[in-house]
Amino acid sequence: MKGLILSGGSGRRLRPLTHTSAKQLVPIANKPILHYVVEDLVSVGVVDIAIVVGDTVEEVRASVGDGSRWGANVTYVHQEAPLGLAHAVLVAGEFLRDDPFVMYLGDNMFEDSLDRVVDGFVDSGDAARLLLAGVEDPSAFGVAELDDSGVIVGLVEKPADPPSNLALVGVYLFGASIHEAVRSIQPSARGELEITDAIQWLLDDGAAVDHRVLDGWWIDTGKKDPLLACNRLVLARMAGDGVVIDEGAEVVDSTLVGPVVVAAGARIVDSTVGPSVAVGAGCRIEGSTVVDSVLMEGSAVLGHRRVVASVLGREAQVQGAHLSGGPVDGVGADLSVLLGDHSVVDVAGGVEGGAIRDG
Ligand code: DAU
Repeated sequence: MKGLILSGGSGRRLRPLTHTSAKQLVPIANKPILHYVVEDLVSVGVVDIAIVVGDTVEEVRASVGDGSRWGANVTYVHQEAPLGLAHAVLVAGEFLRDDPFVMYLGDNMFEDSLDRVVDGFVDSGDAARLLLAGVEDPSAFGVAELDDSGVIVGLVEKPADPPSNLALVGVYLFGASIHEAVRSIQPSARGELEITDAIQWLLDDGAAVDHRVLDGWWIDTGKKDPLLACNRLVLARMAGDGVVIDEGAEVVDSTLVGPVVVAAGARIVDSTVGPSVAVGAGCRIEGSTVVDSVLMEGSAVLGHRRVVASVLGREAQVQGAHLSGGPVDGVGADLSVLLGDHSVVDVAGGVEGGAIRDG
């Protein structure tokens, strides 16, 4: 089987972070989401992989490369605009040919391995196999309608009135017939060629569309809160309630409360960090408390009292009033931010005297 990873799109819900970088490259426990995706595919023997990319092509290519470090062969397919998941299949036609493939959304993460999902698909001759998960807010997803015997009879994208609570999760297995389906459908009301419409076309054509229901957690990381939830889960899996400090990181007069990971070149002084914090390479935390947050490469929290549930982009900086002192207990509110790369938030003198610069 081949692999098709979707890493185009605009990442609207993670702006301003995604103004300057791809949402699929946001790190979870200090590793880009896209790397987990490639590893997941390789772990079930899918090594012939194309990544669909848009404007962020150079950045994605720089991060993933030719895939050889995972024993994979990764190529890139350019999509001129995010015209839909089915459009991504359309532009990847030449790479996919008539081979069965796994389509994997590049901003999705899973607890379970893909083993059970891919097992037996190629021999089944089915046109598609979908992965479903029960969710609380199905109207935010593609939703499957099942008949009494548990067979999928319909699919609808982000319905106002969902037919079930079973969302389409970001992994899809397809045989060659999907190509005719994506060529046959029309753009939806939101102007996209929807993969749900293409699969509905297969169903209407009488094709067999099988499914699996997910056991473990699944997270569409495209928004801040799910991203932080994912970071918590992966950190806990990686470090338990322990602390992983890479060689070349420095921790001075500080308390780390696991799970926490600290990458090389980071420096933590006079601070309390954790639980559930990923400190990226070259970050600085001084005189601060940081909880439940993702600090991307080169970012800094300096002298602020408490930063919680925050995502700091590369080289972003939060600075406060106590640059030289230690953390101040019981004063001031928690700061919770989503900062784009190179942003500066200055909370010195309280919110009124603060300034936020983006740039
Ligand atoms: O996360 C699961 C959901 O993913 C499914 O339940 C929905 O049925 C499916 O449509 C999709 O919904 P989203 O609104 O979350 O899709 P999003 O626009 O975030 O795109 C998913 C990934 O695919 C993301 O990594 C960007 C990439 N993409 C997206 C589009 C529209 C592309 O590479 N090209 C595109 O044209």
